[in-house]
Amino acid sequence: AFDIGKLNKDTGYFTYDPGFMSTAATKSAVTFIDGDQGVLLYRGYPIEQLAKQSNFLEVAYLLINGELPSAAQFQTFEHDVTHHTMMRESLKNFFQGFHYDAHPMAMSMAAVGSLAAFYHDSLDINDPAQRKLAAIRLIAKMPTIAAAAYRYSIGWPIRYPRNNLEYCTRFLHMMFEVPSEPLQLSPVAAKALDLLFILHADHEQNASTSTVRLVGSTGANPYACVAAGIAALWGPAHGGANEAVLKMLAEIGDAKNVGKAVERAKDKNSGFRLMGFGHRVYKNFDPRATIIREMCHKVLADLNVSDPMLDVAMELEAAALKDSYFVERKLYPNVDFYSGIIYKALGIPTEMFTVMFAIARTAGWVAHWLEQHETPDAKIGRPRQIYTGAPTRDYVDVEKR
Ligand code: ACO
Repeated sequence: AFDIGKLNKDTGYFTYDPGFMSTAATKSAVTFIDGDQGVLLYRGYPIEQLAKQSNFLEVAYLLINGELPSAAQFQTFEHDVTHHTMMRESLKNFFQGFHYDAHPMAMSMAAVGSLAAFYHDSLDINDPAQRKLAAIRLIAKMPTIAAAAYRYSIGWPIRYPRNNLEYCTRFLHMMFEVPSEPLQLSPVAAKALDLLFILHADHEQNASTSTVRLVGSTGANPYACVAAGIAALWGPAHGGANEAVLKMLAEIGDAKNVGKAVERAKDKNSGFRLMGFGHRVYKNFDPRATIIREMCHKVLADLNVSDPMLDVAMELEAAALKDSYFVERKLYPNVDFYSGIIYKALGIPTEMFTVMFAIARTAGWVAHWLEQHETPDAKIGRPRQIYTGAPTRDYVDVEKR
């Protein structure tokens, strides 16, 4: 029989890099991160400038096309996105099939995957025009699907997109509008949402984007790729963290309990981590967290909302930043630490937080998927392994086992 070491040697030498800590799976020109300096650039533009001066749809255009649009290009892009916001009427039936308390991420993932069954004119991945069409469709339909998932989960009828409104305002209408009362929407709400979407739009080869690219490398259709990205995003170590942060803050309940929570998070046997803390790449402050923290105070003040969760969050951040465990491991608040508090102030329920992230990240996912298909001779993603199983052995008949 072969020994395992020999088996592995016989199949060649590989880099063993669990979690891909230091393996670049691709070249990409979309987004740059310097985790030590806390720098994030979309197509070369600093996130701070985009957050201040741009809007989500313009950022989506930038991510996809590589350049900021001219006024005319933006108008065309916005028109195209708006033109594709509706979902097929029969797609609505999918939602009826779910149990009333289905998680909106489960419904969104399924609905996005099902788009491949409805839009056959955008499945040919070798046709650049069809690829673009699929990208626009996904950006356009994600808010419609997300709002439908939410309304179904609370037993309300699904609202059609109002295409005379801009992207974020339209989404808030689909979420909250009821026929009898006109929706009183503060402009601060749509602006805050737009900013959160900009900050979440892309983050180079994170777990969900890598998933989109891995699935994309097989030649799968774009809707299947993005549905896989949504699945990867759902986990609490990734996009699910924003939901987990709010649950954790509610559990802590009061600033006076923060000390105990910090001690528990330091105990490896507790199985408890401070959600919204730490990042694989940022070993300095997450620049998105800095922007969100500032914005959180402003949005709550502008909307006249007072939330004790913000006090708990600030106390927790201050306590962790003073604690040598967190300092030594460079664990700082990440983008998700404050985003949930803002979503809550906008009236968005906790189960929808990761869906909100998915709407924004769709821009990044499709930008990477398009880039991947514009790269000649792209290879199928196929990691290798170090085999640790049994050596070769002979089959044993059942009566002799
Ligand atoms: N609370 C307590 N301890 C932590 C935390 C945390 N939030 N995060 C990491 N640590 C500790 C680990 O126990 C480990 O300690 P050790 O060196 O003594 O073993 C050390 O810090 C390094 O942690 P790893 O898990 O090895 O770091 P990794 O880069 O693999 O993980 C991750 C990064 C998943 C983000 C991690 O920090 C985490 O679980 N954070 C909480 C979940 C979260 O907020 N996720 C959102 C990420 S941002 C995003 O996806 C948008």
